[in-house]
Amino acid sequence: LLLSSAAAGLGVATGFGIASLHGEPLKRSSPTVAGERIAFYGPHQAGIDTPPPNHLHFAAFDLTSDNLTDLRDLLSAWSEAATLLTAGEPLPPQNANTETGPPDTGETIGSGPSALTLTIGLGPSLFDTRRHLGIAHLMPAALTPLPALPGENLDHSRSGGDLAIQACSTDAQVAFHAIHDLTRIAAPVAALRWTQTGFNRTSTSSQTQPTPRNLIGFKDGTNNIPTNDQATMRRYVWVNPGDGPEWMSEGTYMVTRRIQILLDVWDANPTTDQERTIGRHKLSGAPLGAQHEHDPPDLTAETNGQPLIPADAHIRLAAPQNNNGQRILRRGYSYTDPLEPTSGQLNAGLFFICFQRNPHKQFLTIQRRLAENDALNKNIIHTTNALFAIPPGAHHKGYIGETLFHTKDG
Ligand code: HEM
Repeated sequence: LLLSSAAAGLGVATGFGIASLHGEPLKRSSPTVAGERIAFYGPHQAGIDTPPPNHLHFAAFDLTSDNLTDLRDLLSAWSEAATLLTAGEPLPPQNANTETGPPDTGETIGSGPSALTLTIGLGPSLFDTRRHLGIAHLMPAALTPLPALPGENLDHSRSGGDLAIQACSTDAQVAFHAIHDLTRIAAPVAALRWTQTGFNRTSTSSQTQPTPRNLIGFKDGTNNIPTNDQATMRRYVWVNPGDGPEWMSEGTYMVTRRIQILLDVWDANPTTDQERTIGRHKLSGAPLGAQHEHDPPDLTAETNGQPLIPADAHIRLAAPQNNNGQRILRRGYSYTDPLEPTSGQLNAGLFFICFQRNPHKQFLTIQRRLAENDALNKNIIHTTNALFAIPPGAHHKGYIGETLFHTKDG
């Protein structure tokens, strides 16, 4: 361990490959200097249809100013900084010896881009008529806060928010650094409301990525929207021209739910019961009654006069066939927090994130169906809730949210 951390330090300092005692390059699980770079600019924001890496640092902010120019300047400053951060470059000026400290806090110098994506969102509370920002008339109907749902026990201090940044990276420190420095940029006009870290993606972006397992030990993301299928993305994820408002065209909406998994309850179920709860085989990920992970589930199959995939199985209730054809793009992460204070149990679960064209038609339809009688419900509690409009991507020299300020809407 000592050897590899010393060698890693050397690698960072020199920027060249690291040689082991045997002359073989030491392999690191995440890229360092030569890490993958994902462009910040583009028609859609990154962090939605880009392959999910394994680390998440999510932050929600409250805007402390009621001046629209402050909001615009913040979105512009965040976008400018995000182009550098996603390129793995420090925020200028480097080595600035100012009273307030250097703009870049420095913990990722030499780490490279590490596939960092920064996805910026606007919460419903920004458009509240009681605010003096003057944008209430631009509120998308799809951003109307979600109603209370059965089975949730929400911590409101860790829910909602005026603004959000989803930072995803192959390197946890790169994701942390982005939130750290973007929070400092926001400081005069916006304050952190809540943060959530996540490890191990629980989704796939397309079938070219292997399906990961979530904390219940099952493959998660098998039957997700393949992000390389443009027609399906257009149908279910991107806001189409004509959906309204115009400033959200090519954007999307993000729902986040911190879902605690009662691991002690779940772990005590025999594997066959766990499989009937999900509707899939634990090892292979195949639907019950099938052989391979990507075999389609047969929701009509019966055994001894009973549905082979039980009536209350998670995948049956979440399937488009039972939700007016609705689908969502899931892109969540596992999380663990300090011990559950009352029970002393592990406090862990799924930080569920999904993207869709209209959360009221899509997430809400599916979640209502699940809340009714998903067999998984006795093992989980939804503890937070947030909804954000994710504006379209920006072009070079533009900024995320620009369409809101130059819209013909309203
Ligand atoms: C801790 C909570 C949850 C766990 C552990 C969980 C786990 C799983 C697993 C193991 C699968 C099967 C593999 C796959 O297709 O990805 C699945 C499928 C799915 N889940 Fe969840 N899930 C949770 C919460 C939710 C929520 C809140 C929603 C949406 C409201 C949701 C929507 C879906 C959908 C749409 C599918 C695919 C169904 C299909 O086959 O058509 N899940 N989930």
